[in-house]
Amino acid sequence: MYYIRFLKSPRIIGRGNEKAFGAKITITTDLGESFLAADLGICVDVVEEDGESILGPAGREYVWKGREGMRSLEVSLPMRKVRKVERVRMVVAAKGEAYVDSFESVLGIGEKKEGILGGVVTVRSMEIDGYTGYPIGTGLAERVFSSSIRNGLTEIHIWEETGESIARHVWDAGLVLSSYIASLPHITDSPLPRLPILESALSSPSLNILELGAGCGIVGITILHTLPSPTHILLTDLPEATEILSRNTSAPVLDLSPSTTSKISHQVLDWSLPLPSNVAATKWDIVFVADCTYNPDVVPDLVKTLGRVADGNREGKVVVAMKVRHESELVFFDLMKERGFVVNEKGIVPLPVLGGEDQEIEVFVFGCGGEVPILQKTLR
Ligand SMILES: C[S@@+](CC[C@H](N)C(=O)[O-])C[C@H]1O[C@@H](n2cnc3c(N)ncnc32)[C@H](O)[C@@H]1O
Repeated sequence: MYYIRFLKSPRIIGRGNEKAFGAKITITTDLGESFLAADLGICVDVVEEDGESILGPAGREYVWKGREGMRSLEVSLPMRKVRKVERVRMVVAAKGEAYVDSFESVLGIGEKKEGILGGVVTVRSMEIDGYTGYPIGTGLAERVFSSSIRNGLTEIHIWEETGESIARHVWDAGLVLSSYIASLPHITDSPLPRLPILESALSSPSLNILELGAGCGIVGITILHTLPSPTHILLTDLPEATEILSRNTSAPVLDLSPSTTSKISHQVLDWSLPLPSNVAATKWDIVFVADCTYNPDVVPDLVKTLGRVADGNREGKVVVAMKVRHESELVFFDLMKERGFVVNEKGIVPLPVLGGEDQEIEVFVFGCGGEVPILQKTLR
C-alpha cells in the first residue's frame, strides 16, 4: 500500500492575483522507506468543511513520475476565482484505479475491485486559515475511510503525524486488519480468507477488547464503528501515542453517539512493564495486535504482556496482523508457543503493490491453550 503524505503542509502562497494554495507532497510506503516507483495521475483539490471543492469540480491534476525516480512534488492551485476563503483543507488523491478512500478499496472488493493493482491512500490536510494563509496547527494529516455497515455508510477518521514517528501514523497491517473486520459482512463472494473463529468471537453480544501497540488507533476505532455491541475497547501504546489517540478517540473526530463514544478509551501500556492494575483486573475477550512484531528486540516483552493478559481469561483470543518484513520476526511464533499460545486459525490477505512486488498481511487468531483444536495445517 502507498500513502500520499505532505512534506510541506498546505498554505496560501504568493500575493494578489498570484495567490495560490501550495504544498509539497510525496508518496511512500507505510515505513516511508520507498517511494512510489510507478507513474500515477493525482488530483489535488481544496475543499470546504462539507467536502465541496472551492476551485471547481475537478481540482487540479498532476502526474507523479515515479518511473523517473520522483521523490516529491510541489503542487499549487491558483486562487484566481476564489474571492474569500475562511477555513479550507487540501485533499490529494490518486486518480483512477489506485484511488483508496474506503475499506473495500483497500481490500479490492465490492463494487470497486480495482484494488487488485495496489492502492494509494488519499490524504487530507489540516485546515488552512484563509485570513493568515497558514495551517491551523502543525504536523498532522487525516485519513478517511468509508465503510458500509448494517445497511448504512460510516466514515472512519484517523489523524496521523506527517513526520517519521513509528507510533503516530497508520501501518499496512493495521489498515488491512481494520478493512477486513469492517468488511466481514460482505466478504462471502470475495476471494478473501474466512476466519470463522474470529467471526464468532466478534459476534458475541458483549466484548471487552484490548489493543496493544495501537498507534493512531485505527483497529480499535474501526471496531467501535462497525461492531454491533462492544462493551469496552481499550487502546494502549507508549506515551508518545497518547496525544494522537486522544485526538482520534475524541467526540468530534469519532462523530458517534455519546453512549458509543464512551465505550472507547486509551491509556499507556508499555510491554516492558507489568500490566497496569486495571488491565490486569479485566477479563479481556479479544486482544488485537497489528504490525507490532517487526522488531525482534521488543517481541519478548510483547509476548510476556500477551501472556499476562491471557492469564486473566484463558478463553480469550489474541488476533495478530503482520506484514512479515524480515525472517527474524518469526521468533514471535516460537515465543508464543513457549508461552502456551496455539494458532487456532490463520488467513492471508493479499496486498498488491502498485508498480512493485505483491505483499500480504497475515492474520493469526491465537487461543490460550483452551478447548479449541489446533488446526495443524494453519501452523507456520
Ligand atoms: C508499527 S506501529 C503499529 C501501529 C498500529 N497498530 C497500526 O497498525 O497502525 C507499532 C506500535 O507498537 C508500539 N510499541 C513499540 N514498542 C512498545 C512497547 N514496549 N510498549 C507498548 N507499545 C509499543 C509503537 O509505539 C507503535 O505504535
